Amino acid sequence: MSELCDKSKDNYQECCRPLQITFRQIVIFGSDYFFSLHTMTQRQLFLQHVAQTSEAPLCFEVSKAEGVYLYDQHGRPHIDLIGGISVCNTGHGNPFVKDAIKKQVDEYLHVMVYGEVIQSPQVKYATALAAQLPANLQSIYFTNSGTEATEGAMKLAKRITGRSKIISFTNSYHGSTQGALSVMGSEYWQQAFRPLLPDVYQLEYNQYDVLNFIDEKTACIILEPLQSEAGVFTPDNNWLKAIRQKCDATGCLLILDEIQTAFGRTGSLFRFQQCDIVPDILLLGKALGGGMPLGAFISSKPKMDTLSFNPVLGHITTFGGHPVCCAAGLAGLEFLLKENLIDEVQFKEQLFTELLQHPSILKISSCGLLMALHFDSYETNKKIIDTCISKGAFTDWFLFASHALRIAPPLTISEAEIRSACHIIIEAINEVTC
Ligand SMILES: Cc1ncc(COP(=O)(O)O)c(C=O)c1O
Repeated sequence: MSELCDKSKDNYQECCRPLQITFRQIVIFGSDYFFSLHTMTQRQLFLQHVAQTSEAPLCFEVSKAEGVYLYDQHGRPHIDLIGGISVCNTGHGNPFVKDAIKKQVDEYLHVMVYGEVIQSPQVKYATALAAQLPANLQSIYFTNSGTEATEGAMKLAKRITGRSKIISFTNSYHGSTQGALSVMGSEYWQQAFRPLLPDVYQLEYNQYDVLNFIDEKTACIILEPLQSEAGVFTPDNNWLKAIRQKCDATGCLLILDEIQTAFGRTGSLFRFQQCDIVPDILLLGKALGGGMPLGAFISSKPKMDTLSFNPVLGHITTFGGHPVCCAAGLAGLEFLLKENLIDEVQFKEQLFTELLQHPSILKISSCGLLMALHFDSYETNKKIIDTCISKGAFTDWFLFASHALRIAPPLTISEAEIRSACHIIIEAINEVTC
């Protein structure tokens, strides 16, 4: 406890004077708040008051983010190799996105719950997205997050088909709320929260015998067109096509989760464009909001309209499609297309692959700028990740592939930045493994 500003001492009121804070204000706001702010580090306060998701968080303290760089509390730049987990595709602090946000902030923030009034940023963004999508994906329901998109899509599938059976896959991730958790492909993360949704079946990804389980009782099958969190696992296109055909034959709806793979990440605007299939319901999130919180489930207008009757307001949200988030998302999409960022993805993927040759890298699995470097164990990977961070390259591992290092930088990363990131990674691998 600081001698200078000890709550138990008479000088406590005195020491707050430089901040122009009166004793009355301290009582109103809570003296512990001011005391904590001035005696504890950001790190201590983070660990004490910001709810934690793991026992050993990275605790990287961000002071600024710009382009492909995150700046720590000392102002030191770190190349961001994960882009907020595939969110910041157009770079941190993109001026075009920031201008759109500022403009919208001046016009209006929240005005009314989703769906009832016409909000221009929502209309413009939905129209721009529809222009990039096939004829059966023209109605966009905006949510606040990816997991809410998953929830909405599963409800929509049940509402349309009148069925309850849902099929998902091992090593899949669709979000953390209870419906999305029910279709998550891992007992480890589910067991503490059971009972979850009934009538959900988990099958093996990329296996043809799953086709036998899709039947006239199945409402939907939910899958990622590649499994990001499995360490970037890409299925056979023929398997995806066979699933599509079986869905058509049985009336089961195909939900494709592109929350992590869309917006150029894998080398096309949407990953399904490379797979020769079109889903009945498409899920978007992450980069959809240009750095702001936004998700969406997308289907045909007749299908989506079923959420508006019997019951009316079949799916509602207060903040979904917030005008500032839609304005930011639209600016992000416009920037992505205008700058032809997607055209450069394959070249950048190749450059990373060429530069990241090392005997300790057992395998590189990638699709565009979604890449995984596979090492022999979690322990090796974690040491390499920590060394990379200490050397100025920010990275992480995957939920279902803790032995693999994640590379998913902003798509704006330059050739020179790729070279210096790879230099750091190779140095880190040498330090850890040699
Ligand atoms: C494929 C996929 N689906 C769904 C989600 C959940 O999105 P959110 O964290 O916005 O709820 C994620 C998040 O990582 C994801 O990667």
